[in-house]
Amino acid sequence: MVQRSLPAAPTGGLAALRAEAGHCTRCPLHGPATQVVFGTGPQDAPLMIVGEQPGDTEDLTGIPFTGPAGQLFEAEAQAAGLDRAAAYVTNAVKHFKYQPRGKHRIHQRPDAGEVTACRWWLDLERAAIRPRLILAMGATAVASLTGTGKGLLTRRGTVEELTDGTPLFITLHPLWILRQPDPHQQEEERNRFRKDLLKVVEMM
Ligand code: URA
Repeated sequence: MVQRSLPAAPTGGLAALRAEAGHCTRCPLHGPATQVVFGTGPQDAPLMIVGEQPGDTEDLTGIPFTGPAGQLFEAEAQAAGLDRAAAYVTNAVKHFKYQPRGKHRIHQRPDAGEVTACRWWLDLERAAIRPRLILAMGATAVASLTGTGKGLLTRRGTVEELTDGTPLFITLHPLWILRQPDPHQQEEERNRFRKDLLKVVEMM
């Protein structure tokens, strides 16, 4: 675990942060992206949910987890009794990274430098919200929060303590589940994901 302390809570709270992030040029991803996709949810949310980065849909809507990964997340969250609206939902990286291919924009995983640059915003969101629990979905979120995303398959379903004492629940990314080529395997992974969300609900 990387030893890092959080910044002071930002004056002006989340609204000011969001406005400031709209002009972010901390890494090159702001260039091709449509807009910054900042976190959404109440400032006093007890649960913070962190994904990787906005996808094609989110880049257009400006709201995290509104595309296919978001639909899977929403369905399983509902099944597990997790109220997304009561949580603060954000990403480790706030701009969509993609490669244009014909009419399509193909998702590219953010690199370590981009994740580090954008941790500036994630740390400020954490400082503003001070959630009781953080749910990290996928290796990029886990790497941003703990310093490494390695060993995700053995860490999933477990809780680690961040350096400020906040418990971090680790699960896989919904997009990884959607990308399982075998429908049977995908179903199994969805079930495991739902069980992870149930554990999160029990911890709240
Ligand atoms: N994947 C993410 O990690 N976040 C989103 O907002 C959408 C897809």
